[in-house]
Amino acid sequence: MKVLVIGSGAREHALIMALLADDEVEGVICAPGNAGIAGVVETHQVDPLDPEAIGELAAKLSVDLVVIGPEVPLVAGAADAVRDRGIACFGPSAAAAQLEGSKAFAKQVMAEAGVLTAIAHVCSTIDEVVTAIDQFGAPYVVKDDGLAAGKGVVVTNDRAEALAHAQFCLARAADAQVVIEEYLDGPEVSLFGITDGTTIVPLQPAQDFKRVRDGDEGPNTGGMGAYSPLPWAPENLVADVTKRVLQPVVDVMRRRDTPFIGLLYAGLALTSRGTRVIEFNARFGDPETQVVLARLASPLGRALMAASTGRLADLPPLAWHPHAAVTVVVAAANYPENPRTGDAITGIAAADAVAGVQVLHAGTALNAQGELVSAGGRVLSVTATGDTLAGARQSAYAAIDLITLEGSHHRTDIALDASAPA
Ligand code: AMP
Ligand code: GLY
Repeated sequence: MKVLVIGSGAREHALIMALLADDEVEGVICAPGNAGIAGVVETHQVDPLDPEAIGELAAKLSVDLVVIGPEVPLVAGAADAVRDRGIACFGPSAAAAQLEGSKAFAKQVMAEAGVLTAIAHVCSTIDEVVTAIDQFGAPYVVKDDGLAAGKGVVVTNDRAEALAHAQFCLARAADAQVVIEEYLDGPEVSLFGITDGTTIVPLQPAQDFKRVRDGDEGPNTGGMGAYSPLPWAPENLVADVTKRVLQPVVDVMRRRDTPFIGLLYAGLALTSRGTRVIEFNARFGDPETQVVLARLASPLGRALMAASTGRLADLPPLAWHPHAAVTVVVAAANYPENPRTGDAITGIAAADAVAGVQVLHAGTALNAQGELVSAGGRVLSVTATGDTLAGARQSAYAAIDLITLEGSHHRTDIALDASAPA
């Protein structure tokens, strides 16, 4: 099969490397990609906001399968445009992608599916916000209803900061809504399932580090690092979440006549009162995908094709490597606020040569002189495998030490607690 991957992050770089390792995949093409992806496969320009352009590119390239990485094209209807041309697509329709595109919609589906989540109030005015935050008390959780690249959520003890964020979200559009939630304590887990709209097959769980600085300080980001497996997680976590969360949501989406085909991402909090859903995403997580795929032993192309063509029930069970994987994101100066771009990146080849390490590119480009430069907030996702989390961690950080990017920063505590001896 010939596969077109849409996107330009380290998640897409990881998907492409896994697809290339599947012997049923004869070719992979990416649009738009980045400098690292262009080093391994053919790339094409495409506007991720233009569903018809994505559909036309897939038809022109005569691909058998399109895998859509980011949420923005999905919410805009890229999967619909691809399927309208008779091409299989791994990614939900615009209607089904509302599970990620609108937090208020996700709450409705969870209520219908009997899925446990934080109690929430959807507010359209600042007066409603004041009432809601004072009802819940601190810590305050204030969320933009729409897509915000992981940066629309503020969790704070500072009431003024909570109100300021709500005010900012409400000012974005005349019909803007903001969601005020009860605070969920406990560690977070990302669990992905691939689904054909009926059957859902869970992947291995991972943990993401959302805050920009060590010790979970600073603002939320798209994700600064991840690891898998989770040695501290309950043994039945995957089976339990599949039964209580993933399958019921897939069933509700199908009953609503908006079947969800693609990757359903459950962001979970393991609270003192049990597991609660924080959010759904309609696509592979970034950077969790980098570690989950580093552990997948089964061919990825076959699994994504089976999900895209309603044949997931026939897929043999997925096999997993016992090894551990850690990924650390190298971010540009001033990420997440206002990332600086155009800085030279060196040392990638040396970092890649560290045993077990794969340097996956996110915001990278070649400048006019053909030099590798930063081109986005999250620049690289340095991914390592090892027999243990401690070993994988050590390799990832040894590789990062070999990379130079002026002004860059990364967290130094990815998988630190989880890799400490019990
Ligand atoms: P979201 O975009 O909904 O995933 O939120 C981003 C991050 O904010 C989550 O990964 C959590 O770290 C935090 N967060 C979101 N909702 C809550 C909540 N109800 N309680 C505690 N933390 C939350
Ligand atoms: N790592 C969080 C996300 O992909 O949304």
